[in-house]
Amino acid sequence: MASFISHNAAETQQYGETWSREAGPGWVIGLRGDLGAGKTQLVKGLAHGLGVPQRIHSPTFTLVHEYPRGRYPLYHLDLYRLQHADEIAAAGLAEYFFREDGITVVEWIDRWQPPLSLQVPPGAHYRDVSLEILDDSRRRIIYEDFSP
Ligand SMILES: Nc1ncnc2c1ncn2[C@@H]1O[C@H](COP(=O)(O)OP(=O)(O)OP(=O)(O)O)[C@@H](O)[C@H]1O
Ligand SMILES: [Mg+2]
Repeated sequence: MASFISHNAAETQQYGETWSREAGPGWVIGLRGDLGAGKTQLVKGLAHGLGVPQRIHSPTFTLVHEYPRGRYPLYHLDLYRLQHADEIAAAGLAEYFFREDGITVVEWIDRWQPPLSLQVPPGAHYRDVSLEILDDSRRRIIYEDFSP
C-alpha cells in the first residue's frame, strides 16, 4: 500500500512516470476515481516514461487505444461507457489483461467484475490505484499491488 498527495496535474504525470520504471510485460494497472480525478494524467506520465511518442487521449469512445512504439506496448482501456455486466462481457476485453507482450492500464476499473485483484495469474502483476479529489488541485493517490 502506497499513498501520495499530488498538488497539480504535472505532479500526477510525474508520479505515473515513476511507474514506467517498475512496470513490464504482464502488468495491469487499474485506475479508480471520479470524473476529473486525474486517471488520464497518470496514463500520460506512464506513457511518456515508456517512450510512447504519441499524445495520449482517453479512449472513451473506442474502449481501447494501443501504443506499440514505446519500450513495451501499452494498452489503454477506458470502461466508463460499460455500465452493465453483459456489455462488459460482450466487449471482449479480457484479452488485454496480463498479456505477455505489454502493459495494460484501465480507467474505470471498478466497472470490471469480479475484481481483477482476484484474477492475477502467477508471474503477473496487478496494481489497483484509487484517486481521490481533495480540492481543485490536490489529489490523493493510493495503490495496492497484487503479484501472486
Ligand atoms: N493534482 C492533480 N492531478 C491530476 N489532475 C489535476 C490535478 N489538479 C488539477 N487537475 C486537473 O484535473 C483534470 C484531470 O483530468 P483527467 O482527464 O486526468 O481525469 P480522469 O480521471 O481521466 O477523468 P475521466 O473520468 O473523465 O476520464 C485535468 O483537467 C487536470 O488539469
Ligand atoms: Mg480519463
